Amino acid sequence: MPVALKNDLFLRALMRQPVPRTPMWIMRQAGRYLPEYRATRAQAGDFMSLCGNPELACEVTMQPLRRYRLDAAILFSDILTVPDAMGLGLHFETGEGPKFSKPIRTAAQIKQLAIPDIGTELKYVTDAVSLIRRELDGMVPLIGFAGSPWTVGTYMVEGGSSREFPRIKGLMAEQPALLEQLLDTVAVTTTNYLNAQIEAGAQAVMIFDTWGGALEPDDYRRFSLANMQKIVDGLDREVDGQRIPVVLFTKGAGPLLADMAETGCDALGVDWTTSLAQAREFVQDRVALQGNMMPSILSESAEVIEKSVAEVLASYGRGPGHVFNLGHGITPDIDPANVEIMVDAVHRLSPAYHDQGTSD
Ligand code: CP3
Repeated sequence: MPVALKNDLFLRALMRQPVPRTPMWIMRQAGRYLPEYRATRAQAGDFMSLCGNPELACEVTMQPLRRYRLDAAILFSDILTVPDAMGLGLHFETGEGPKFSKPIRTAAQIKQLAIPDIGTELKYVTDAVSLIRRELDGMVPLIGFAGSPWTVGTYMVEGGSSREFPRIKGLMAEQPALLEQLLDTVAVTTTNYLNAQIEAGAQAVMIFDTWGGALEPDDYRRFSLANMQKIVDGLDREVDGQRIPVVLFTKGAGPLLADMAETGCDALGVDWTTSLAQAREFVQDRVALQGNMMPSILSESAEVIEKSVAEVLASYGRGPGHVFNLGHGITPDIDPANVEIMVDAVHRLSPAYHDQGTSD
């Protein structure tokens, strides 16, 4: 029998059901701003060894929940484990971000790209999911995740992080069908991967499309959104009678939030360049919204942080369907004490936006 959740506010908000206060979690909540994270990473040796060790990945997943009153845990892993499992050879160079030793450079490589067996190649991830579920013991739900095929594709083709995406944009201009073939292979793999996370115990899943905003609207629909749509269509949306909500997050989506809301997902992540009031107009109550405080506010004073929390809550306004979060990941320079100020403010100020609101 599945353990009943002690706190299901996050899942209820994603399904736009009434809640007594706005639930919250923080993108990159397990990460370098926490000294205990840095200690566990040092114990593992490096970032990829941390991802590859289910016990230590479970430990860092739990760390932010011990400090803060958060309403969801997120699996500790990375979006680039998928292309690593496809044989591209991922490594992280300190201070330089991710690098692939075998980036996609030729049409032959795309045609030969194999869909990996998740049960063997990514078993370390599903083992971490099972372990985290056991450790959480129903305290809060666990979010599984993957990158969008477009975003993962940028790393596969560029060979690492990029600002302007010259190689993948060149491929898009010259051989769009070949790019579609590459992204389709990633989409199939990602669907299998997220279903394996769901089977192992993920109670919601989120697709991170960090670089979708670098595309023109028509290219966004063709290369990014269409592939997220394939994933949404292929996911197991119900386990033991419980719906598994799906969250899509394209950074810089703006008005394209309206198109994203039609995929059949349950919720959309919103960055800070679109107000939640405007996002609500774009999506017309079709989906819940997650976001969107500007991460850099966390380096300001308590007064500024509290004011920003108040503005985000007011911008969404009354009623269910909001999950409080940052508009992108928390950065390593943030003082953990400032995160507590934000969390306390959400707990204190959000009940006023809900019928029968209560803070706890
Ligand atoms: O939110 C969480 O706490 C879960 C863990 C998580 C990580 N990466 C851990 C991580 C999640 C959800 C991600 C997603 C991810 N990874 C994205 C999409 C989300 C986003 O932030 O836009 C992207 C683009 C990546 C790829 C990636 N991973 C890059 C470009 C880098 C290096 C840049 C950086 O931030 O340093 C990573 C490394 C990474 N992933 C770290 C963490 C905690 C830092 C590595 C370290 O500890 O040395």
